[in-house]
Amino acid sequence: MPSFAKRLVTWQKRHGRHDLPWQRTHDPYAVWVSEIMLQQTQVATVIPYYRRFLARFPDIASLAAAPVDEVLKLWSGLGYYSRARNLHRAAQAIVRDHDGHVPDDIDAVRALPGIGRSTAAAICVFAFGARYAILDGNVKRVLARSFGVRGYPGDKPVEDALWRKAESLLPKKDIAAYTQALMDLGAGVCARRQPRCAACPVSSDCVAHRKRLTARIPAPGPKKTLPRRRTLMLVLQHAGEVLLEKRPSAGVWGGLWCFPEAEPGQDVREICARRFGAHAGAARPLPVVEHGFTHFRLTIEPQRLSVARVAPRAAEPGHIWLTVEEAQAAAVPAPVRRILASL
Ligand code: ADE
Repeated sequence: MPSFAKRLVTWQKRHGRHDLPWQRTHDPYAVWVSEIMLQQTQVATVIPYYRRFLARFPDIASLAAAPVDEVLKLWSGLGYYSRARNLHRAAQAIVRDHDGHVPDDIDAVRALPGIGRSTAAAICVFAFGARYAILDGNVKRVLARSFGVRGYPGDKPVEDALWRKAESLLPKKDIAAYTQALMDLGAGVCARRQPRCAACPVSSDCVAHRKRLTARIPAPGPKKTLPRRRTLMLVLQHAGEVLLEKRPSAGVWGGLWCFPEAEPGQDVREICARRFGAHAGAARPLPVVEHGFTHFRLTIEPQRLSVARVAPRAAEPGHIWLTVEEAQAAAVPAPVRRILASL
């Protein structure tokens, strides 16, 4: 029986993905951008963002030289915005410390902002053909099932065992096809629910498949109920425009443009007058928007306010009046985009 790696490589050549946009290049910059976008985001979602990003920032120099707001604009809707801020900072570090080239040394890659062990390995594999193991969430599932590694992969001892397994399996050649095979298998065959074991090249040796344990391996993490928060968003409208406010660069949606917020129960007309010198008619509620973050759930209650007269203080830095179309093209998070679409 051929080795685990050999079977995966053979399978990848016939059944894996070969036409993803970042597979047409070995440009380390393009590979790096794709791997950052693909952290926590599915391939189908990433593709249009990746294309727009590379069209606007074709190389490290153009990314490093751009204002961070431009970078966030292209990331708008993709979520986990610290990825974009780190990508931008890393481009500047590469220009400063590495002569403008992605370093071909895994420790130097890993030292860049926003790059962990698995992402550094994927970049070095696809850009430089280097021989390193990856272990993202999907690959953890593939290896845990194949080799019957019980326990929750978020626990350090289980994760350490999976890393050791991943490193022991690396083939001597075809490292890129092997790495892509693990990703393709994890995304399309070894699914969390209802894996398609009949299509898997290693199912005959798979512990979880043979023992009918695919529903139990990998073990789920401790169930945590996420706290729920509520916020009001003030949708101020004046002469066909809406008011957006830039959020502080640290924290949730850092550096993105949002509607001004208020606590539930606050008098939104009074806030309008006090903060923006804007005299508004009665607030009209728009449909509630729910948004999930990693650590909490946010219930957004948008309040639409028609503003007759606006004082100059609403045009101070950090605030901007934009048409709805302009706002939709700005660096706004997905729930703000949804609210804009409902106007
Ligand atoms: N997920 C993470 N990296 C990926 C890649 N290069 N191709 C497909 N899915 C991925």
